[in-house]
Amino acid sequence: MFPFRAFAFGILLAAGVMLVMFCLSAEAATAEKNLKEIHAWSGEEISLLRSLSLFSLPALPKDPSNAYADNPRAIELGKKFFFDKRFSANGKVSCGTCHMPEVNFTDKLPLAMGMGQTTRRTMPLTGNAYNAWFFWDGRKDSLWSQAIGPIESSVEHGFTRSMCAHLIADKYKKEYEEIFGKLPRINNKSCPPKASPGTGNPAALKAWNAMKPEDRDNVNRIYANIGKAIAAFVAQILPRPAPFDLYVDALTKNDLEAADKFMNRDAVDGLRLFTGKAKCTSCHMGPLFTNSSFHNIGLATTDKGRAEGIDKVLADEFNCLGIYSDAKPDECLELRFIDTNRAKYVGAFKTPSLRNVADRPPYMHAGQFKTLSEVLVFYQRSASRELEHNELTNTELLKIEAFLKTLTGPLSFPK
Ligand code: HEC
Ligand code: HEC
Repeated sequence: MFPFRAFAFGILLAAGVMLVMFCLSAEAATAEKNLKEIHAWSGEEISLLRSLSLFSLPALPKDPSNAYADNPRAIELGKKFFFDKRFSANGKVSCGTCHMPEVNFTDKLPLAMGMGQTTRRTMPLTGNAYNAWFFWDGRKDSLWSQAIGPIESSVEHGFTRSMCAHLIADKYKKEYEEIFGKLPRINNKSCPPKASPGTGNPAALKAWNAMKPEDRDNVNRIYANIGKAIAAFVAQILPRPAPFDLYVDALTKNDLEAADKFMNRDAVDGLRLFTGKAKCTSCHMGPLFTNSSFHNIGLATTDKGRAEGIDKVLADEFNCLGIYSDAKPDECLELRFIDTNRAKYVGAFKTPSLRNVADRPPYMHAGQFKTLSEVLVFYQRSASRELEHNELTNTELLKIEAFLKTLTGPLSFPK
């Protein structure tokens, strides 16, 4: 009896083990089937996803208008300028006041606060060197001419270019000369600190006009060089792979298990909507999720945006075609072929990059929305002719939001 019982027990045990194994493999098969179903993309779709991934980001473009853009010393000096509060009327404002590295170089505010309150929201600086136009309205055509804008704005740094020249001569002479060559003589007579044509203050303009042309030129050149150093630093602020990029990479290698760890079903559905039915990629395209163009997406605003930015950039003495630019005229194609159809651009603003977007509310050019879900509800309802999507359900909005969250990754910039 005994051996038979042991034999029967053995058979039962074996059957049990086989059953468990069968169940496990069936489960594995369903899991694999699920993975294949969730992450099913055609070859053509994968090419589109790759075009959105950071792995397709080209090398940093050259800026022919800034001869110092790749100069390591300029990068280092530009970083000092970026965080130096002495470039402000009250000694309390630097670029870093509004562009805080720990919040993606923004400030969490709907409208930025410097010496006073601005009328627009602070923009993030990640991947900025890939842009052709700067500011919400694109009123600048290079990172260096952009950088010297806020310094003379009465609500931002509230400083003057003449005060900048004095600060360089007093505090940065050696570092400046090592990069840009000998400084001209700067004193209160050749360069009265309050003198400036760019602050909108009549007394400052009068003092500026009373200066000798060569002194004005000297100050302008120092001012442009400050911008060129800051731009060299800002250009180095770059996005690093986020879960979305790692997802696309895993898909390309056909490693669905890895892919699944980077993006879950909702996020993948959201990505399908983003590139498909919701037509978001007609503007938020490429590895930085922007077409670098200007659109009126239907936000009620009295701000004319790009319609006014066009004339400002054309009139700017520090633009690509100006005397302080290092570019040859045929290297200024963007500016020379600028679309001047002002009527088309009333209320149009630059398509923002969506890199790290979930991490840096509020949203839109005047901080109109506090959360991503508010932004998406806006898109669901907007009647702008520029948006061509079909109706989006609330569940679809949640999925798009899940996808947008996968665009949050680390940043790199010179430490
Ligand atoms: C008072 C807060 C404040 C200060 C200080 C400030 N910025 Fe900004 N920055 C903003 C705001 C607001 C915008 C958008 C303004 C607009 O479109 O009119 C902006 C836009 C930018 C942009 C354009 C980004 C893009 O995508 O077009 C860059 C680059 C930039 N700032 C760099 C700087 C630098 C460099 C400094 C220091 C010289 C600086 N900012 C000082 C608030 C500030
Ligand atoms: C016609 C071009 C266009 C389309 C299509 C488009 N956007 Fe935008 N998007 C913009 C512009 C322009 C802004 C900035 C508008 C402003 O501030 O005036 C913006 C802003 C945003 C912002 C806020 C980002 C920030 O930094 O403030 C998010 C998020 C966003 N879009 C997501 C989407 C999603 C999701 C879709 C698809 C449903 C979409 N966009 C479709 C052009 C577009």
